[in-house]
Amino acid sequence: SPATGKKKPRVYLTRKLPDAVETRMRELFDAELNIDDTPRTREQLASAMAEVDVLVPTVTDRIDADLIEKAGPQLKLIAGFSNGTDHIDVDAAAKRGITVTNTPNVLTEDTADMTMALIFAVMRRLVEGSQVLMDKPGQWEGWSPTWMLGRRIGGKRIGIIGMGRIGTAVARRAKAFGLSVHYHNRGPINPATEAELEATHWDSLDQMLARVDIVSVNCPSTPATFHLLSARRLALMQPSSIIVNTARGDVIDEAALIQLLRDGKIAGAGLDVFQNEPAINPKLLKLAKEGKAVLFPHMGSATLEGRIDMGDKVIINIRAYFDGHRPPNRVLP
Ligand code: DGY
Repeated sequence: SPATGKKKPRVYLTRKLPDAVETRMRELFDAELNIDDTPRTREQLASAMAEVDVLVPTVTDRIDADLIEKAGPQLKLIAGFSNGTDHIDVDAAAKRGITVTNTPNVLTEDTADMTMALIFAVMRRLVEGSQVLMDKPGQWEGWSPTWMLGRRIGGKRIGIIGMGRIGTAVARRAKAFGLSVHYHNRGPINPATEAELEATHWDSLDQMLARVDIVSVNCPSTPATFHLLSARRLALMQPSSIIVNTARGDVIDEAALIQLLRDGKIAGAGLDVFQNEPAINPKLLKLAKEGKAVLFPHMGSATLEGRIDMGDKVIINIRAYFDGHRPPNRVLP
């Protein structure tokens, strides 16, 4: 900055961010924006990574080892505009001495809200009901005691896979709605939180899957969680149970899930994330039209407040790095 005589870091934003964030970025950094928000090609990312000091990617950019190896020596920081970091090869970055940061905490509550929204949408047939009015105006025949019946939320058991920040926030909401909380995690959570949530820890995911009414996926995508919900495990779920996913598509074997839904072996699915985003398996769309699935286009953290908070975190991480401090949200390999 002019005051210190230091050169502003060159910061490359791969996508359009909220105006407030971009304005601040331009004040503080030599920021290159993506005004029309067209996703950047690999070639564009590679040439940016050959020139800038900081890359700010989002979940739509695949920053793999190949790209990172070709980065110029000036690239010091990959300041991710995301909570998840499965799209960034953190190991490859570490090998090149490039620091990686993310934006945790600020999208926890919004994502947990979306998880509940999916549970409600599936169990209370919200999208189907709305479609009756939207698709066939004037054709609603009026209230009937046996029509559009969903399932009661209260009194059911939720099985949360991944009891980190988002899983715990889901558990709080679930408890408030009268669900009993079960979870599977790498280990038990702290006893005070477990007691507050009256939550039951299942060491065996298989056993939990067979006993709950709602399965909620809230773990990150890692090599260890890839297809964690395999065909074999999904088949353990009860026929009346549902599954919701606001985490990452590849935690569920999507083809196996489709088969179970088609065969009526589970009652429904609410998905905010997919295996090959933004492509959606047409069979899933067909199931959605038949009322067996509710699909949202990766909207879990999509609130204006959340995006601004994410931008603030990115800025704090970049400033910390260039002020010579440890960025607060450094992601370790
Ligand atoms: C994240 O940040 O990981 C979300 O999936 C998208 O904002």
